[in-house]
Amino acid sequence: MTITIVHASQRSKGTSSTIARNLASKFEGAKINEINLQKEQIPYCEGCLRCVTKGMEFCPHQEKILPLRDLRLEADLLIVATPVYILHMNGQLKIFIDHFSLWFMMHRPENSMFNKQLMVV
Ligand SMILES: Cc1cc2nc3c(=O)[nH]c(=O)nc-3n(C[C@H](O)[C@H](O)[C@H](O)COP(=O)(O)O)c2cc1C
Repeated sequence: MTITIVHASQRSKGTSSTIARNLASKFEGAKINEINLQKEQIPYCEGCLRCVTKGMEFCPHQEKILPLRDLRLEADLLIVATPVYILHMNGQLKIFIDHFSLWFMMHRPENSMFNKQLMVV
């Protein structure tokens, strides 16, 4: 089993990351990948829609996005850990999710995502 943790907090040893790592450690023998959005510093989605019309490989930020896409595709379980900022996910996580929005719309659904498990911390 492969787990990918998405850490959204700027505090790498903060509450949400600690809970996510503890949770992942309960799955004995699982391979654990970690995406740390603090380190990734993903630029804002530019809204060019190239991902929708051509594919994610054509994203202006593809150098950052494609390796993260692969970690998501590899995972059987995604653990997304975010601090709550004003009743929502934090901004870093929203920027990350914006870059994958095409997977969840009718344009280019990524079928493998429908078979994955998701935990949100
Ligand atoms: C700008 C900001 C907004 C926050 N808004 C909320 C909130 O709406 N509700 C809440 O329960 N906690 C809120 N908090 C508290 C954080 O969610 C809390 O400290 C969290 O544990 C931080 O997670 P981290 O340690 O993983 O970074 C806020 C903190 C900050 C800095």
